[in-house]
Amino acid sequence: MTVHIRGDLAALQCTSDGERPVAAIRLDRNELPDGPLPHAVAAIRSAAEAVHRYPDPTAAALVDRIARHVGTTADRVTVGCGSANLCQHLVQATCDPDDEVVFGWPSFELYPAVARVVGARSRPVPTTAGHGLDLDGLLAAITRRTRLIFLCNPNNPTGTAVHRAELTRFLDNVPESVLVVLDEAYREFVTDSDVPDGAHLLQGRDNVAVLRTFSKAYGLAGMRIGYAIAAPEVITALRRVGVPFSVNSLAQRAAIASLDAGDELAARCRNIILERDDWVRPTLLAVGLEVPESHTNFLWLPLGQRTVPFRDHCLRHGVLVRGFAAAGVRVSIGEPQENDAFLAAAASFLRAPAPAAVARGDDNRDRGAVRRTDLPPGRAVANVAANAQHDKSEG
Ligand SMILES: Cc1ncc(COP(=O)(O)O)c(C=O)c1O
Repeated sequence: MTVHIRGDLAALQCTSDGERPVAAIRLDRNELPDGPLPHAVAAIRSAAEAVHRYPDPTAAALVDRIARHVGTTADRVTVGCGSANLCQHLVQATCDPDDEVVFGWPSFELYPAVARVVGARSRPVPTTAGHGLDLDGLLAAITRRTRLIFLCNPNNPTGTAVHRAELTRFLDNVPESVLVVLDEAYREFVTDSDVPDGAHLLQGRDNVAVLRTFSKAYGLAGMRIGYAIAAPEVITALRRVGVPFSVNSLAQRAAIASLDAGDELAARCRNIILERDDWVRPTLLAVGLEVPESHTNFLWLPLGQRTVPFRDHCLRHGVLVRGFAAAGVRVSIGEPQENDAFLAAAASFLRAPAPAAVARGDDNRDRGAVRRTDLPPGRAVANVAANAQHDKSEG
């Protein structure tokens, strides 16, 4: 091999599918079990007729639709081939070699990788004992070389969320030259009204950007589409570093159709949240596991040294979960029967009684059918609908 390849790239992992058995129940990537929304499928079918044409490189119709969705103007929105690509573009747009990127840890694994690709240095800040982001620690990590802070809210993989008052105080203390990227990939699963909508927080702050994705709640992971909301100067920089035509026409049309189907989105998020809060998390707590409250479509089990044995045990029981070596396991909320398979595996790891038997007791109810049709009234459900529709009244 005579071609010069950058030596520092050797520290990066190659993209691979690891060992992901096809037959296993896949609760390792925070995918939604329901698939795309029906309107999105119809839009993809109709757009397929025209894929001999390049897509609109500006994605103007989608950008307008997103701007309307979040209550801003089109010059403050751009789209990317997944929000993962936008993460990289943001670092490319802000960092020179040896500049610094700060983020909590554990958090989205891509942050250190995109920093390295650009030649920037990562400054990971450990999460708190309660598995939340340490905002004071993040502030303390800022140096003269810091150009960007990734703040994943709610955080992947811990599922925890930062509240409005602490986040506002944090933003007030970050130097204006540093871009704060609020990564809100799981925003649609938030029901706590104290967890702020980043789209509102960036009003009046030119150094804040918000990232969202259609991969999770909208069920379009395979379409690869996400978006950024930021000051026009940041959006222009993102458009400069992005590769033209990388957001394909099927994805653009599917995303518009998904935004138009707000009620259906709210219903599916509500099901995931009910399954998370009323069944999977309480069942795990009941068998003695620590499980922080989650604001996402997954749960975090801080298993420490038991992480790898637990992950391998689940795999032997046909369930794929995501292990973060010596830190913990992240498990996505799937279909009821998938969750039950995971819970049975977790219980057998701990040699606890099978969870279905514990929950059903004597009445032998069909838990999934009951809980997916009898929707309780109240704040959580109302908030899901509000997130899906984007209530623009929040200050
Ligand atoms: C926090 C966070 N941000 C961004 C992404 C990237 O999403 P996508 O590139 O599929 O839009 C993910 C995916 O898992 C994520 O968890």
